[in-house]
Amino acid sequence: MVRLDLKNLAKSFKATKILDDVSLSVEAGEIVAVLGPSGTGKTVLLRIVAGVEDPDGGNVIIDGEDMTDVAPDRRGVGMAFQNFALFPHLTTFDNIASPLSARRIPQDQVVQRVSAARALERTETAYGSGSRAGRRAQGASARRSATQCRCEAAL
Ligand SMILES: Nc1ncnc2c1ncn2[C@@H]1O[C@H](COP(=O)(O)OP(=O)(O)OP(=O)(O)O)[C@@H](O)[C@H]1O
Ligand SMILES: [Mg+2]
Repeated sequence: MVRLDLKNLAKSFKATKILDDVSLSVEAGEIVAVLGPSGTGKTVLLRIVAGVEDPDGGNVIIDGEDMTDVAPDRRGVGMAFQNFALFPHLTTFDNIASPLSARRIPQDQVVQRVSAARALERTETAYGSGSRAGRRAQGASARRSATQCRCEAAL
């Protein structure tokens, strides 16, 4: 089943065309990397998938549903930021819990989902090393897992 379908996406900033008729499909369980030189629109494309940027044309279909005009928090798209975007004033637990608290998920479920996400990160990820950057990457990834999103955009 196609989980994510991007159809004929277009985006310009002023007179500069960044995306011109971009289409791609991602199957359930498939991992797709978008490669290209700096400034060619990879992040713009992923921001459109997440809903934090509007396309000038085209559609974002998730699980067969047209999400082009749906708000980011209703799309079920998890975002992993290149710079991790962790809150420096919050603990690891509170960072991972932050999207769940924002959705007003009951506290007992928050505790359970944060624990599960942390356990998953410890066993399945290879950031390893225990370095500061490694721990930040694990925290950011656990925060995204805890949201139980339908698809993920790593910006
Ligand atoms: N909000 C914006 N307003 C104006 N121009 C923008 C905006 N966002 C992105 N751009 C421009 O769109 C182009 C594509 O940017 P984008 O960040 O998607 O590139 P990228 O492929 O992700 O690059 P990198 O590999 O460096 O991350 C760039 O020229 C950038 O300056
Ligand atoms: Mg980028």
